[in-house]
Amino acid sequence: MTDSIFQDNGSLYDLFYESKDYEGECDFVEKAFRRFAAAPVKTIFDLGCGTGGHVLPLSARGYEVTGVDLSQTMLDRARRKAKKAGSTATFLHGDVRNVDAGRAFDAVISMFAVIGYQAEESHMAAAFANARRHLEHDGLFLFDVWHGAAVLVQKPEAREREFSDGKGGTVTRSVTPVLDEDKQVVEVDVQVRRVSPEGEAEESEENHIVRYLFREQAETLLRDAGFESVHICAFPDIDRELSDDDWNMSVVARAA
Ligand SMILES: C[S@@+](CC[C@H](N)C(=O)[O-])C[C@H]1O[C@@H](n2cnc3c(N)ncnc32)[C@H](O)[C@@H]1O
Repeated sequence: MTDSIFQDNGSLYDLFYESKDYEGECDFVEKAFRRFAAAPVKTIFDLGCGTGGHVLPLSARGYEVTGVDLSQTMLDRARRKAKKAGSTATFLHGDVRNVDAGRAFDAVISMFAVIGYQAEESHMAAAFANARRHLEHDGLFLFDVWHGAAVLVQKPEAREREFSDGKGGTVTRSVTPVLDEDKQVVEVDVQVRRVSPEGEAEESEENHIVRYLFREQAETLLRDAGFESVHICAFPDIDRELSDDDWNMSVVARAA
């Protein structure tokens, strides 16, 4: 990923994902911890934490959480939200492929396709290796990623949605995806159009490249990075078997 995406629209991110069930996803994360961790998880490293969607609820639930992100815009927002919530979470500016927190954690999480943004296989391998470096033996790594079997059957679709900016203006987000099966990615053109209450329009555009993974491929990449894959399931339901209908795949791996 280049560091220019999630910059222009970083401040709009929370608006676009206001209905995403972060608390429910944190329930899922905790269920995975309880079921698969060798010892109770107390410290968490969130790779690609964005605006803190998981960092803040997990911190409120008593975990010591550190989030890292490449986008300063997203991090600034996460820090402001953490301060407002009285959270003790900490944040680092860095790249999930090589950031060094200088310590190990009980668990590493990477939620909402962050792993897919490491769209070249070597970049994804670097992110996995870096997750491993931040875990002791038996530590847990949990992430969700687009599931190749579903992407190829369902195919990504163009969509458009209008939001109210809460100040009398509107924000329209239009997404145009192109599937590239050779590169195993979806290139997503995201156009954002803001119209102020006075009718003034402002437009911006981002290009996201997101890699999807097949189950066996995830297992191989994880093994190569020093993990054993312990559980793959539908996201975000630890008890539901992954099917070809599930666009999002959850992966829980243990540091070997
Ligand atoms: C779809 S957002 C997910 C954010 C957050 N995990 C959530 O669930 O809301 C993807 C995030 O990954 C970050 N990201 C992508 N590639 C990255 C990299 N190589 N290093 C650090 N952050 C990265 C982006 O800046 C963005 O904040």
